[in-house]
Amino acid sequence: MSNYDGKRVVITGGTSGIGLATAKVLDAGGARVLVTGRTPASLAAAAAALGPRALVDRRDVADVDGLADRAAAAFGGVDLLVLNAGATAGATVEDTTGDQYDDLFAVNTRAPFFTVQRIVGLMPPGSAVVLTTSIANRKGIATTSVYSATKAALRSMTRTFAAELVDRGIRVNAVSPGPVDTGILERSMPAEAASEFLAAQRAVNPMRRLGEPEEVAKAIVFLGFDATYTTGAELTVDGGASQL
Ligand SMILES: NC(=O)c1ccc[n+]([C@@H]2O[C@H](COP(=O)([O-])OP(=O)(O)OC[C@H]3O[C@@H](n4cnc5c(N)ncnc54)[C@H](OP(=O)(O)O)[C@@H]3O)[C@@H](O)[C@H]2O)c1
Repeated sequence: MSNYDGKRVVITGGTSGIGLATAKVLDAGGARVLVTGRTPASLAAAAAALGPRALVDRRDVADVDGLADRAAAAFGGVDLLVLNAGATAGATVEDTTGDQYDDLFAVNTRAPFFTVQRIVGLMPPGSAVVLTTSIANRKGIATTSVYSATKAALRSMTRTFAAELVDRGIRVNAVSPGPVDTGILERSMPAEAASEFLAAQRAVNPMRRLGEPEEVAKAIVFLGFDATYTTGAELTVDGGASQL
């Protein structure tokens, strides 16, 4: 029997990249996993990558009531909630539109906030929330001002949620990835610009490489199940980029 046998796990943005890598570890370890995403390609990839027990749920992050109802119906409770869905957009402050600003905050910040609000009632003592932030939330990186601000807000919420939930035995932590080649950039900017950005990140990284989704997944699983004396924290997984 593994540590995750029968654990009930909800992962938003669990159909690709870091979220899917996390779902695979937990699914293989016996957890009951529900992952969300939107696009047919990512939903199909998740269905192919996960075992028959996993639930692959087509749902926009804005549909927090629908997600809570689905989790309640499928599992009756939630032992780990991973708020990982996210989007980015590369634009200077002068080029950023109002819609881009609102869309990024809606996906990266508003949706996680209200998902916690709706799902926490399903979470028993001993359960945990993990939010995916970014090292961009504490560095000035040109063309990422809105994205970075959405993740700084999440880092702040991690502390406040942790304070509000500690007496209920629910831990809340964040994982803060550095550059990981998941395709997220290519979905928000021209391929050439994404490739240049990643090459520059690789060159300046102390480890001279990008991270793998599986390396971030290990940190999420650690925070979710093993870090039992840790709450309100943010664990950085970035090859040392923000430290060295
Ligand atoms: N990759 C990096 O370098 C990096 C660095 C720091 C932080 N992060 C953060 O890590 C998290 C995961 O990113 P990733 O790199 O693994 O990217 P990814 O492969 O693009 O995965 C993003 C996931 O979020 C889902 N998603 C996005 N917008 C959504 C929406 N409106 N409604 C529902 N689902 C939505 C996607 O599903 P669909 O594709 O089906 O929409 C997908 O499952 C994000 O929060 C990101 O900001 C990534």
